[in-house]
Parts: sequence; C-alpha cells; structure tokens
Amino acid sequence: MTGKLTVVGLGPGSAELTTPAVSRALAEATDLVGYTTYLDRVPVGIERQRRHGSDNRVEVERARHALSLAASGNNVVVVSSGDPGVFAMAAALFEAVESGDPSWRTLDIRIEPGVTAMLAAAAEAGAPLGGDFCAISLSDNLKAWATIAQRLEAAARGDFVIALYNPASVARPDQLGQAFDLLRSVKAPDTPVVFVRAAGTPEARLRIARLGDADPAGADMRTLVLVGSSRTRLIERPGGAPWIYTPRSERDVA
Ligand SMILES: C[S@@+](CC[C@H](N)C(=O)[O-])C[C@H]1O[C@@H](n2cnc3c(N)ncnc32)[C@H](O)[C@@H]1O
Repeated sequence: MTGKLTVVGLGPGSAELTTPAVSRALAEATDLVGYTTYLDRVPVGIERQRRHGSDNRVEVERARHALSLAASGNNVVVVSSGDPGVFAMAAALFEAVESGDPSWRTLDIRIEPGVTAMLAAAAEAGAPLGGDFCAISLSDNLKAWATIAQRLEAAARGDFVIALYNPASVARPDQLGQAFDLLRSVKAPDTPVVFVRAAGTPEARLRIARLGDADPAGADMRTLVLVGSSRTRLIERPGGAPWIYTPRSERDVA
C-alpha cells in the first residue's frame, strides 16, 4: 500500500516544545485526524490539507478512519497532545490495526514522539523524577477503579515517585482525593506533592503541598500531579517557589 500514517505528539502546549520532526510531518500531511482541541493547535500546512476533527472519546473509531484514509493513498497524520504513546492515540491505532483489515499491516505507519506532560511538569518543578518513577492514569473510562487502586498501592509500596495523569474531571471529581487517601496509608505525611497545571506553556502554574494535607480541589484535566518518594525533597530559596528534586542516590552524599 502506498499510503502513509504518522501518529505525532504535539508536546504539552507551547509550539516551542513541538519537535521539528513533528512539525515537518504536520506540514506535509494531506489529512490531519484528531480531537478537535488538538487539531486547533496545528498551524495550517500544505494547500488543500483536510482536517478530520472528532470528539475526545472515539479513539478507536478515529484510528480506523485514519487507517482507511491512509489505505486510500493519503499522507495521514494523527494528532495527540504530549507524547502519542502515553495514554494516547498510538495505542488506539495499533488496537485498530490488530483487529482491522489485514491489509492495514502493510501500511507505512510511524510514531513520532513528543514531550509528555510528566516531563514538562517535572521540569517546571525542578528534578522530581531523578530517582525511579512511574505514571498512572486515574481515568476509569478504560479500566476499573479497583485496578487503579491496586497499582497506586503497589507504586507507593515500591517507593516510586508517582506521576498522576487525568487526576480529575467534571465526571470524576472525587478520585484524586481517594487516590491521596490510598497513598497516605503507605507514604509519609510529609511526602511532597506537586500540582502542575498547563505545564510547558506560558500559563504554567505550580502548587506544592504535603501528602498529609494535600487538597485535591483545583486539579483538572490540564493538571499533572507528582507525588514524591521518601527521598524527594524541597530546596527553599528566597523570592521564589522551592525547587523540588529526588536525588539519584539512595544515600545522602556527604
Ligand atoms: C489523556 S492524557 C494524554 C497525555 C498526553 N498524551 C501526554 O503525553 O502528555 C491527558 C492528561 O495529561 C495531562 N496533561 C496533558 N497536558 C498537560 C499539561 N500541559 N500540563 C499538565 N498536565 C497535562 C493531564 O493530566 C491530562 O488530564
């Protein structure tokens, strides 16, 4: 098949954090497919480029549509925010390939990485991901809350720094509070918690708390929450928010 399909990540928000490789793929595409909010972030590319915007919830249908367009010989780019492989369209695409038309397996499919929210949020705060870390999505649209709770507890017992994606939405206002309660049963109350909204954009906002009394209110679908390990600490500084970092070593360096 002659069609081409590239799944790209736009990065966390500002154009400067979109990689040149992604910008090139977007500029050359005949068809752009994605959630309308993300498509609106893409500058106009070649003449007669077509845009196929859809609702956020129809990921596998959107992937099938993109695959059919590519199978007809088009140069299709599927757009995600952040990195396309992190809780995003790249996996939806391969789900569609695995269960779909066998001829789709001969398409030229590429994944073009982007800066995921966790990395942009960590950079706003300092270096909280300096030790071992993991990422958990709190969204229960595609998995049961029992699975999420089990993973939160395991991550806390493993003393990972935990990046929480999808911490809250209008439909799920209580889950971040429930997650904090679970983490409090294992992690110390003075564990640093960082809320980063709109990381990697000029509107970025940081709130630092301690797990013992961290208030989940205010976290929304543009917030990434980082919960420290037992090694994560703050460096206070005059006239600015403290830096937060996790040393790479298990032991204090003299
Ligand atoms: C469905 S996930 C998609 C993640 C995306 N593929 C990535 O790699 O960043 C959406 C979640 O990512 C987080 N997120 C995305 N962009 C963000 C940003 N600029 N600042 C903070 N969190 C962000 C939020 O937790 C949001 O609810």
